[in-house]
Amino acid sequence: MASYDVIIIGGGPGGYVSAIRCAQLGLKTACVEGREALGGTCLNVGCIPSKALLHASHMLHEAEHNFTKMGLKGKSPSVDWPQMLAYKDDVIGQNTKGIEFLFKKNKVDWIKGWATIPEAGKVKVGDDIHEAKNIVIASGSEPSTLPGVEVDEKIVVTSTGALALPKTPKKMVVIGAGVIGLELGSVYARLGAEVTVIEFLDQITPGMDGKVAKTFQRILKKQGLNFVMGAAVQSVETLKTKAKVNYKLRKDDSEHQVDADVVLVATGRRPYTEGLGLDKLGVKMTERGQIATDAHWATNIPGIYAIGDVIEGPMLAHKAEDEGMAVAEQIAGKHGHVNYSVIPGVIYTAPEVAAVGQTEEEVKASGRAYKVGEFSFMGNGRAKAVFQGEGFVKMIVDKETDRILGCHIIGPAAGDLIHEICVAMEFGASAQDVALTCHAHPTFSEAVREAALACGDGAIHA
Ligand code: NAI
Repeated sequence: MASYDVIIIGGGPGGYVSAIRCAQLGLKTACVEGREALGGTCLNVGCIPSKALLHASHMLHEAEHNFTKMGLKGKSPSVDWPQMLAYKDDVIGQNTKGIEFLFKKNKVDWIKGWATIPEAGKVKVGDDIHEAKNIVIASGSEPSTLPGVEVDEKIVVTSTGALALPKTPKKMVVIGAGVIGLELGSVYARLGAEVTVIEFLDQITPGMDGKVAKTFQRILKKQGLNFVMGAAVQSVETLKTKAKVNYKLRKDDSEHQVDADVVLVATGRRPYTEGLGLDKLGVKMTERGQIATDAHWATNIPGIYAIGDVIEGPMLAHKAEDEGMAVAEQIAGKHGHVNYSVIPGVIYTAPEVAAVGQTEEEVKASGRAYKVGEFSFMGNGRAKAVFQGEGFVKMIVDKETDRILGCHIIGPAAGDLIHEICVAMEFGASAQDVALTCHAHPTFSEAVREAALACGDGAIHA
């Protein structure tokens, strides 16, 4: 039995970042993780492996569609799927080992196994009971299930199975036009699959700015993805090597069926708290099965905190990381803080989609007077040079003060460009502050500046 200042349960982006920060702040820290490798869903079966497959399939797409235009002749590469998976696994390995190294460097103990909290101040892993003045639950989330749909991770898969298919499908049905469905749907469409996305609502990516969502769907359609909107999946029947997906159109209740080699269920994730013993401890939960916390990530049980996907808020690795650092600071007697109004969201398709702050719909609903500045990547020389003129930057500002309320980008490197606006918003900047900042030419970032200019006297290249 060992005694710690802090034990963190879960080695994903929330947990491992929190553990490192706790150790850096002088606290004796351990992190419990039951997987073979640190890094949680994000590094093992989520963000990182999907980015490897998105990158590889994007390269193939470029070779097939743009190489000859640039004077690069010759046969397009063909897909060696086992090698692509090996590349993905290598990327995972490098990243998860990196965290192991960081734990050693910062003197964080990795307790291998699955944790239970028998009582406040104690964490049980296997037969060992460890003492902890503070416990941080960072146990993440798991894919949520759908009634009538049984996941076997072979034919009917979640994102986990979709990242390790034995072969690329010819026909794929994706249930849910959210982030996971569109990222992984894009991968397999680029690798040659006929992909049909079935979405319950009438808009893809719920919560996204309406104009961006419409443009995004149009671009994805052009890339070959088929969409069935306003459709509720009723059931999935699996045969030996195939599946049939039954759905009802909401507008007229008509019943339809589509078959596939692989069905990806991407209808959201739910908090993962199994086996922690929270019921017995009396930890307060929300109606949606999340752990209830106060503004400092404390649960109703003294000495027990929770962060990341198990609590309220967007299920994003970087939100969990920020909470992980902030809770470490709180435990160390400092003033950890997360600004929830400036958390970016990124979808790593091509083009990328990124957003921070409020959508136009949200600003409108709030009743505030606002202005919108937009700039198309067609007016950006760099984007056109690399066949990425599709998309735009949309900035929403307060009409009176010019303060930036939100920014939405669909276009090249959107996921990186958005951070200029995150920093600007953290500083309470106006669009004019961005417009008056010199941006290097030729870069994609000039489109952000032009959108800021469009909030004032007008963009130059529009
Ligand atoms: P999501 O919540 O983003 O999207 C789920 C979609 O499924 C919604 O559009 C919803 O309307 C639809 N849906 C729900 N039930 C349905 C039904 N019965 N039939 C048809 N459609 C249905 O969830 P997703 O994509 O599974 O992602 C889970 C979480 O992981 C999200 O919180 C997401 O933010 C996070 N994530 C983030 C990534 C990123 O930041 N790039 C990448 C992957 C996941």
